Amino acid sequence: MLNWNIRSSHKTLSLENSSEAIKHYLDTLTSDDVGFFRLPENKDLIADTVKVYEALKHKKYFIHIGIGGSALGPDMLLKAMGIQSGVEFIFLNNIDPDDMQRNLDRVNIKEALIYVVSKSGTTAETVAAMSIVINELTKCGVTPSEYKNYFVFCTDPEKGDLRKLTKEWGVHTLSVPSNVGGRFSVLTPVGLLPALFAGINAQDLLSGAQEIKKHLADPKIGEEFFKLAAWIKDLHDQGVHQTVVMPYSSLLKEFSAWFVQLWAESLGKDGKGLTPIPSYGATDQHSQMQLFMEGPKDKVMFLIEVEKFKKDYPLTNSLSGESFKLLSTFSLSQLMKAEFEGTLEALKENDRHVIHLKLPCLDESHLGQLILFSECLTVLVGRMLKVDPFNQPGVEAGKKYAYAWLKTHQK
Ligand code: PA5
Repeated sequence: MLNWNIRSSHKTLSLENSSEAIKHYLDTLTSDDVGFFRLPENKDLIADTVKVYEALKHKKYFIHIGIGGSALGPDMLLKAMGIQSGVEFIFLNNIDPDDMQRNLDRVNIKEALIYVVSKSGTTAETVAAMSIVINELTKCGVTPSEYKNYFVFCTDPEKGDLRKLTKEWGVHTLSVPSNVGGRFSVLTPVGLLPALFAGINAQDLLSGAQEIKKHLADPKIGEEFFKLAAWIKDLHDQGVHQTVVMPYSSLLKEFSAWFVQLWAESLGKDGKGLTPIPSYGATDQHSQMQLFMEGPKDKVMFLIEVEKFKKDYPLTNSLSGESFKLLSTFSLSQLMKAEFEGTLEALKENDRHVIHLKLPCLDESHLGQLILFSECLTVLVGRMLKVDPFNQPGVEAGKKYAYAWLKTHQK
C-alpha cells in the first residue's frame, strides 16, 4: 500500500481547527454532485469501455484528441505503465501547427482510431484538431457515413456539441459522468480506453484506487491523511505557497504534469493556492535541487520513492578510479536509493518541508492508489483553504475572450 511520512521540523497540528473542513470534505465524497471518489466501483463505465475496445481493437494507431484534464491523465497512464500492445499512440493535445504536422506524419490515418475526448464537447483546441483529422480522412476518400469506423467520442452523457453529433454519425460514444470534472476523470473512459489499447490492466488501476479509499475517508483510519492536509494548509498560511512534486522515477515524469494541473487548477483561486513545480529524480538533482535545497523556504516537497523496480542492472566494472570502484558492488536501483536517501538527509539538514511518499512498486494497482490519494488530498486541502476545488473560473475567462476574439475576426 502507498504510504507517506512527513519529514519537517514544522509539526503536525491537532485536527480540532480542521474539523469543519474535514466534515465538508467527507460530505463531498458522498455527495451526488461529485463523482470521482465512486469511480473505482463503477462497473458500468469499465464494461462500456471494454465493449468499445473489443469492437475496435484491430486498430494500429490511437489518435487521442483532447486537452487539459482530457489528455494529461491518459498520457500519464501510458508513460507510467508503458505501451505493451504494439499500438502507436499520437496525442493531439495542442494547436501548434508544426507539431500537428509531425504527429500526422507518423500515422496511417486509415488504420487509426480517433478518440475525441471533451467533457464539454466544445473546447476550441479539441474541435480544431478534430476538424483537421476529418480533412485528412477526406483526403483519403473517407466519407461521413464511414466516420463511425474511425471515431470514438468521450463526452458528457447529455450535453455539448460532441454529444449531439453521436447520433448523426452513429459513432461509439463513452461518457464522462456529469459529476466528474476533467482533471478528476482519469479513472473514467477518458483514461480507461487508451489504457486498454496500451495493454494496461484497467481493472487493476480501479482496484488499487478502491483499496486505498478507507485510508482517505474513514474518520479513524484516515486520520494521518487528514493531518497531512492540515499540515499543508498550516504551512500555506505561513507563506509556504509552492509544492514540488518529485518522483524518483522517469516513468512518473508525466505524473508530475498531471498533478500540476490537478493541484493548480483546483486550488489556485480567490487569491489562494499552492504553485506546483514538476520535477523528477534523480535527474533534477542536477538542476532544480540547488534551489529546493538552499533557495527560499517556501516549498513543500513531495518526494516519491518507488521501492522496487521491475528491472535492475549491476554496476559491476573492473575500471580503475575511485568512483568506478565505489559503484561496482552496487546495482542501478541501489544507486537510485542512495540518491533518494542522500537528498532526504540533506533536505532535513537544510530544514526543508518534505513529504516522503513510498510506492512499494510501480504497477497498475499502486498507480491507482497514487491517483486517488492525489485527488483526495487536493479536495481536502481545497476544503481547508475554503476554495471550490471543482471549478476553474480563471480558465473559463481565457476561453471566453478567445471566443470573443474569434467572433470579432470571423470572415
Ligand atoms: O480539468 C478541467 O476541467 C479542464 O482542464 C478541462 O479538462 C479542459 O479545459 C478541457 O475541457 P473539455 O474536456 O471540456 O474539452
